[in-house]
Order: sequence, then structure tokens, then C-alpha cells
Amino acid sequence: MRVGIIGAGWIATQHVATLRRLGGAEVVAVCDVDESRARELAGGAATYKDWRHLIDRETPDAVFVCVPPLAHREVAVAALEKGINVYLEKPIARGLEDARAIVDAAARSSSVCAVGYQWRAVEVLDDLRETLAGQEIGMQIGISFGPTKSRPWFLDRAQGGGNLLERASHTIDLERAIGGEVVAVKAAASRVLLAQSQGEHGDIEDAAALVLNFANGSLGTIQVAWLREGLPGKYSLDVLGSDSVLHLELDPDFALRGQSRGRSVEATSRQHPVERSVDRFLAAAREGNKNGVFCLPADAAGTLSVAVACEEALASGGTVKVTEHWR
Ligand SMILES: NC(=O)c1ccc[n+]([C@@H]2O[C@H](COP(=O)([O-])OP(=O)(O)OC[C@H]3O[C@@H](n4cnc5c(N)ncnc54)[C@H](O)[C@@H]3O)[C@@H](O)[C@H]2O)c1
Repeated sequence: MRVGIIGAGWIATQHVATLRRLGGAEVVAVCDVDESRARELAGGAATYKDWRHLIDRETPDAVFVCVPPLAHREVAVAALEKGINVYLEKPIARGLEDARAIVDAAARSSSVCAVGYQWRAVEVLDDLRETLAGQEIGMQIGISFGPTKSRPWFLDRAQGGGNLLERASHTIDLERAIGGEVVAVKAAASRVLLAQSQGEHGDIEDAAALVLNFANGSLGTIQVAWLREGLPGKYSLDVLGSDSVLHLELDPDFALRGQSRGRSVEATSRQHPVERSVDRFLAAAREGNKNGVFCLPADAAGTLSVAVACEEALASGGTVKVTEHWR
């Protein structure tokens, strides 16, 4: 499979390494508006400054869209319209209008589109679902704190949505994958800067707490924080069922432990979820199986609706209903 990479920053570097490890796909071209970044990543493959030229001249079988969220729509829609399979990095887009355009383009296209919410590909999620079968979920408690890379668009709320979209949306997506649709949210942020310095910072918060009300009556919480480089992080999800307490450890180990129906539960993952997510995308693209990926555009759009509602709740201090339907 001939693959093009669009956007040659942090996540693209990881995807190129994953593709090399997996085999079966060749990176034939890399594009970045900063061509030196494209060259650095290309390792002999063709380089482009304009993604349109990459698409037209290389006609790749698949592209990995690794540009910042505001640029997702244009690239993803154009690729899907040309029948190219798309692995689109999360969040699906910065705003709901762009998300709608991508969901519609994916529905019209015969090609496969996966969104890079890799925690849907955590192997032990299957064990968690099996364990919870026949039980009610009462509450999910998501923790996501640690250092991350500072990028200009991430520091600007209008471009990246800050920690809510960039980081907490992974946990929103995971809680939705387990608990179903969210109907209302509340949010609060700390005014203290943890990772950003007093002198040099954007307009985003470093720490926030979200409360999600699910359609099935259950509750989800998410605590997200951006910490300074060198401090230890913690990424996990606890799930409280009617007869179980389960702890899902996320990043760097993806393991499940706890107790259910009087028995202890323990399971570990063999494959990293990013690799599993990309692997599944490549297989779906080869088979032309649009539904064969872990996170469909409509799944990611639903997650964006919740994240955008959290942004509104953060601004207003009130409860915000989630009204968009994507399926
Ligand atoms: N799945 C994950 O865990 C994960 C982790 C990090 C980032 N991401 C997502 O990946 C995307 C990229 O994030 P990143 O951290 O790699 O950002 P980055 O800033 O490191 O890289 C983005 C690159 O895109 C280039 N670019 C910008 N506009 C472009 C355009 N129109 N055409 C070509 N190149 C363009 C920039 O020059 C930059 O090199 C974001 O949507 C982000 O949310 C996902």
C-alpha cells in the first residue's frame, strides 16, 4: 500500500515509525508547509509543501492526515472525494461544521476513514466489555495528567481547543465507547498555570474537571491536567459497575484489573493501541471495509460534540446539553 503523510510534526513521526514496524505499507511521500520537516521525515520519499500536489501527483492508496485540527477538513474531504483512504488524526476537527463536512464526505466516499482516537483500540477494552456484560455502569472516573509537547496551535484556544480537545477528548471518547451517548455536561477549570509559565503562555487552561451525564443515567468524570516536562503522568479509567470495580491503566501500560462478581479480573494488552489502530485501518483499506476501523468519523464527531459542549460549559459555568446526533 502506497501511503502519503500530510503534516510532518510530532504524531506523523510516530505514524511513520509504526508503519515501518508493521510493514506492508510504504511511505511514498511526505508533505509539510515547512518543507524541512517533510524532508527530515521522508527518508528518501518524495516531499511536498502543498498537500494538493501530493494527492494529485502521487495518487496514494492512503493518507495520514497529521495537520493541526483547523486544517483537517480541507485535506480529509479532498482525499475522500478522490477515493483515497484516510487515517485522520483526532480530534475530527476543531468545530462541528467541519466535522459535519468530514462525516458527509466519508459517507459519500467508497474509501475507508478512521479517526485516531487510539484508546478505542486498547485490547483489554474487550475484556472490560465482557466483564461488564449484564451489569449496569454507574460511574466512570477518567484521569489524564502529565507533560505533553507545547505546539503553537495547542496554546491558542481558537485553533486547538486547548487541553479539552487535545487531551481530555481522548478520555471523553473512551468513556463514550464504554458508556454510550452523553446528554449533558458541566466543566470547571483551574486558574493556576501548571505547565505554562507566567511569562509565556497561551489562552488555554492547564487543568480542568469535566462531568458527563450519559443517556443511560450513568455519570462520567474526567480530570485533565498539563504538567511540566519531567513530572510523572497518570492516564487511567476506573469503571464502577453494579457488581464490579474495574481499573483500566492507560499509557504506557494498557492493563485491566479489578473485581467483578466476586472474582478478580486481570488482563494485559500485547499490542500498543496506536499500532493496533493503524494496523486495523490498513486491513480495512485493503479490504475496502468502511466499517472495519476502531473509530469511525461519526464516533469522533460525537466525541467532538461533547468536547465542544464542555468548552461552552467552561465558559458559562452552567450545564450544557449535547444535542447533535451523528448516526
Ligand atoms: N492520537 C494522538 O495521541 C495524538 C497525539 C498528538 C497529536 N495528535 C493530533 O495530530 C494532529 C497533529 O498534531 P501534532 O502534535 O503532530 O502537531 P505538530 O504541530 O507537531 O505537527 C503538525 C504539522 O503540520 C504542519 N502543517 C500545518 N498546516 C499544514 C498544511 N495546511 N499542510 C501541510 N502541513 C501543515 C505543521 O507545519 C506541522 O509540522 C492534531 O490533530 C493532534 O490533535 C494526536
